[in-house]
Amino acid sequence: MAILVTGGAGYIGSHVVLALLEQNIDVIVLDNLSHSSRKSINRIEKLIDKKIIFIEGDIRNRKCLRNLFSIHNIFAVIHLAALKSVGESIFNSLEYYNNNISGTILLLEEMRIAKILNFIFSSSATIYGADALSPYTENMTISGTTSPYSTSKLIIELFMQHLSKVEPAFTGIALRYFNPIGAHESSEIGEDSSFTSNLLPCIAQVATGKMDKLIIFGNDYNTPDGTAQRDYIHVVDLAKGHIRILNNLPKIKGYKAYNLGSGKCFSVLEIIKIFEKISGKKIPYEFKLRRVGDLPSFWADISLAKNELNWFPKYNIKDMICDMWNWYLKNPNGFL
Ligand code: NAD
Ligand code: WQD
Repeated sequence: MAILVTGGAGYIGSHVVLALLEQNIDVIVLDNLSHSSRKSINRIEKLIDKKIIFIEGDIRNRKCLRNLFSIHNIFAVIHLAALKSVGESIFNSLEYYNNNISGTILLLEEMRIAKILNFIFSSSATIYGADALSPYTENMTISGTTSPYSTSKLIIELFMQHLSKVEPAFTGIALRYFNPIGAHESSEIGEDSSFTSNLLPCIAQVATGKMDKLIIFGNDYNTPDGTAQRDYIHVVDLAKGHIRILNNLPKIKGYKAYNLGSGKCFSVLEIIKIFEKISGKKIPYEFKLRRVGDLPSFWADISLAKNELNWFPKYNIKDMICDMWNWYLKNPNGFL
């Protein structure tokens, strides 16, 4: 029995694939390489000294999925394939709905035909919406998402809730990731800045001279230093959360959501200070207006994952930034 990882060539997906293989769990990867490189898979194969069954394909290609499920004996699907930029989604809503929602519907339909009953979904802290108070808990009332991206994640969670009611054998687990950063200690896989505009890749681009300064979106938030706060979680801790889910699958019935974050938050200026200390690099910056869709501050209550999955984040913020910087030093141009 194998685990299908959709989006397994991506930033988080590649770390999940490596974590599964380290546990001797058979993995099949499906990825259309729209936002990643095949090289991430090659690097994992080198790290683990094992060939990975990689299928370059789109979750919206029914024939590809039907074929995959007829050949491979899949026990569960870890579904990471998605477009993931909040900002981009605001101007490309239909593309996000098509890719993230229609793609997932098709995946779920083909899973049902193939009688695959275990679905682990990459959800997001952004579904809690603008009015939620931190720390976010899984049973909070979701008050309304603020972007097509976060709406796409919420809608899929609603599908999962409904499916688990009408198909008792279906197990749907939503993992609500906060802000994953960092990279595997080998620096062989990491977040390729050519595919993202998140804070840490932008800091790395300033540190490596690719950008002359960092733009800080807003310094007028109601936070101690005026810059926005986020709950950063090491991508390896995040990946290991998926292993904990698989280990606990027999105990989980129906639909369930878990926060995967650190339970702490750091502001943009705090992150810059920690990075400067670790790298010895000065990060010049300029304050600009707040970014549309940004929230001032949010962080996770992770007690549910701790108590039910025995999952604990192992790495602290310095580890995250150190591992991220080592990745960029070794791979200044990502996977190019
Ligand atoms: P990523 O862009 O690195 O990985 C997504 C992968 O999915 C890419 O390899 C891309 O090529 C692939 N993909 C996209 N659309 C596809 C399709 N239609 N068919 C097949 N493959 C497709 O992003 P990531 O940061 O690794 O995020 C992985 C998942 O985690 C996403 O679902 C994202 O929404 C979610 N998430 C990410 C963050 C974050 O901050 N990175 C936070 C919360 C949730
Ligand atoms: C963090 C903070 C920015 C870049 C994103 C997605 C979210 C989720 C996680 C999918 C914010 C500030 C950033 C820069 C800055 N992904 N910033 N200058 O926005 O919290 O969440 O990743 O689920 O959907 O939106 O992460 O890294 O973009 O920003 O000042 O050049 O850093 O304003 O306050 P974010 P981020």
